[in-house]
Amino acid sequence: MEIDLDRRLVVRNAALLGAAIAAPVLSVWAQSEKKSDAADKEPEVTATEDLMREHGVIRRALLVYSETVPKLRQNSSAVDGDALRQTAQLFRTFGEDYHERMLEEQHIFPLIRKQGTELEHYADVLTAQHQRGREVTDYILAVTQSGKVSSIHAEPLARVFEGFVRMYANHAAREDTIVFPAWKKNYSDKHLDEISDQFEDIEHKMFGKDGFEDAEKRIASIEGMLGLGDLAQFTPPAPPKP
Ligand SMILES: [Fe+2]
Ligand SMILES: [Fe+2]
Repeated sequence: MEIDLDRRLVVRNAALLGAAIAAPVLSVWAQSEKKSDAADKEPEVTATEDLMREHGVIRRALLVYSETVPKLRQNSSAVDGDALRQTAQLFRTFGEDYHERMLEEQHIFPLIRKQGTELEHYADVLTAQHQRGREVTDYILAVTQSGKVSSIHAEPLARVFEGFVRMYANHAAREDTIVFPAWKKNYSDKHLDEISDQFEDIEHKMFGKDGFEDAEKRIASIEGMLGLGDLAQFTPPAPPKP
C-alpha cells in the first residue's frame, strides 16, 4: 500500500516536473509560432475599420485641396497642377470608383435604406453628394490638364475646393458616426468577418493588389511633392493667454 502511494507520488512529481519543464518550452514555441504567423499575415481589418481608413486617405486628399486654396489666390502660376491632378486621379479611382461605388453604393446604402426614413434620407443625400463629387473631380482633371492652373481658373478652382472640402468633411463624418454603425447592426461578428473578406476580394479585383496600401503611398508621395509631408508643420502655435 505504502509502496503504491510512493510510486504514485513519484509518478505525479515526475509528471509535474515534466510539465514545469515543458510549459515554458511550449510557451516559447507557441510565441514564436504566433510571431511567425503575425509576420506572414496582416492583422485582420474589420469591414467598418476598412471603410474608415479609406476615409483617412480621402481626408488627406481633401487636405491637399484645402492647403492649395490660399496658394491659388496668392499666385496660381506657382501651384503644382500636376500634383493636384494626381490627387484628383487618386480620388477618382480609390475614393469614387472603389470606396463610394463598389462599397457604399452597393453594400452599405441599400441596407440602411431599409432601416427607417432618417437613414433613407441619409442614403439619398450621400448618393447625391457622391455625384456632385464626381463632377468636381471631372472639373479638377479638366483645369489641371496642362500641369498648370491658368489664372482664369484660379479663383473658380479655389471656390470649388472650398465647397468640396466642406461637403466631404461633413459627408465622411456622418458616414463614420451614423451610417456605418447603423449598417453594422445588421450583422453578427462572424458575418461581418465574411463581409470584410468580400471587401478585400473587391479591392484585389479592382487594384490587383492591396488598394489601401497603394493609395496611402500615393497620397504620401503627393504630400511630399507639395511640402505637406511633415505632420509637425500643422501644429499651431500655443493659444494666447486669456
Ligand atoms: Fe460616401
Ligand atoms: Fe465614405
